[in-house]
Amino acid sequence: MFNAKLLTQRKPVQMTENIPYLDLPAQMRGLRKEVDAAIARTLDRCTFCLGPDVVQFEKDFARFCGAQHAVGFNSGTSALHVAMLLLGAGPGDEIVTTPFTFVATSWAISYVGAKPVYVDIEDATFNLDPKLVERAITPRTKAVMPVHLYGHPCDLDALLEICRKHHLPLVEDAAQAHGAKYRGKTVGTFGAVSGFSFYPGKNLGAYGEGGALVTNNADFAARARALREHGSTRRYYHDEVGFNYRMEGIQGAVLGVKLGHLARWNAGRRRVAHRYHELLADTPLQLPREAGYAESAWHLFVVRHPRRDELKQHLDARGIGCALHYPLPLHLQKCYASLGHKPGDFPVAEKAARECLSLPIYPELTDGQIERVASAIKEFFRK
Ligand SMILES: Cc1ncc(COP(=O)(O)O)c(C=O)c1O
Repeated sequence: MFNAKLLTQRKPVQMTENIPYLDLPAQMRGLRKEVDAAIARTLDRCTFCLGPDVVQFEKDFARFCGAQHAVGFNSGTSALHVAMLLLGAGPGDEIVTTPFTFVATSWAISYVGAKPVYVDIEDATFNLDPKLVERAITPRTKAVMPVHLYGHPCDLDALLEICRKHHLPLVEDAAQAHGAKYRGKTVGTFGAVSGFSFYPGKNLGAYGEGGALVTNNADFAARARALREHGSTRRYYHDEVGFNYRMEGIQGAVLGVKLGHLARWNAGRRRVAHRYHELLADTPLQLPREAGYAESAWHLFVVRHPRRDELKQHLDARGIGCALHYPLPLHLQKCYASLGHKPGDFPVAEKAARECLSLPIYPELTDGQIERVASAIKEFFRK
């Protein structure tokens, strides 16, 4: 029997699916069998902490980076912490670094009791501005630590030149830059040591936490292996105070499988970035561009506009996920109040923090989804 009430109660048909900011389930669908098999092998062997899957992944990841050594860690933060220890950084030392990054870059410095000395960033790349680095160097400077932010390599030649002149090591925070290239060479081996993160949303993400320290220095690699395992090379003999920073066997197995897909995934991210460029070229947004020396890993696609907050609301309301990387630079974070900074100290970073908006970017993003993001942005600017 016809029931008019039923008709009026019907929910409106949703014409479009939400576009998540990050779609790990989409990646999982294409991988599930392969990772299930790899995890099952680890379970059968019960090699849960380090073990053969981690050893194999370390070899494969070192090769991928063009490095002599990769040492698996339980996070990017712990890898960077140990990098600081390898350089002998400690209380009274200063590390020149960027205020516009995820906080863990600075944690590594703070954990060893050293002081982060911030230098402003370049407007175009969001990375440490080499022109400003030299004037921040003092007799207490122990190292320079740039970040390849959003997967875009920093200006390594310029930074290495300054480091050579002042006899300082460079530490690359490559946490977001798996497979990014500087003048054709994969980042991670330009400095004395580098740290990668395998946090799940990264271009190469674990199924949990993970990280790696990469270096061409055999002594550094050996000491990093000891430090991550309670400061020991022989069980129950401890040469120095160490940490439990071991990579889990299951993460080594998962990362080993995923590493085989990374080049293709990075190419997929590049496709998305190019399509955004085509579709958004005539909008008032400032789009992220690759510098002449750079092949970005396109970890994030970060656009800029002074009306960023309104634009984010507009996209949120249309089911389009977007995010802020990062809303507050490190020199203005409460945890670093003791450094005595104030608004205006690093104006380029502060402006970037006010204007940045990260759009969805992942290899599984379809052309239709990219077009929907772009048309929602165009609609915003027409309003
Ligand atoms: C630039 C940067 N450095 C360091 C880290 C720390 O890595 P993890 O989260 O694996 O400890 C991250 C992770 O988000 C990062 O983005």
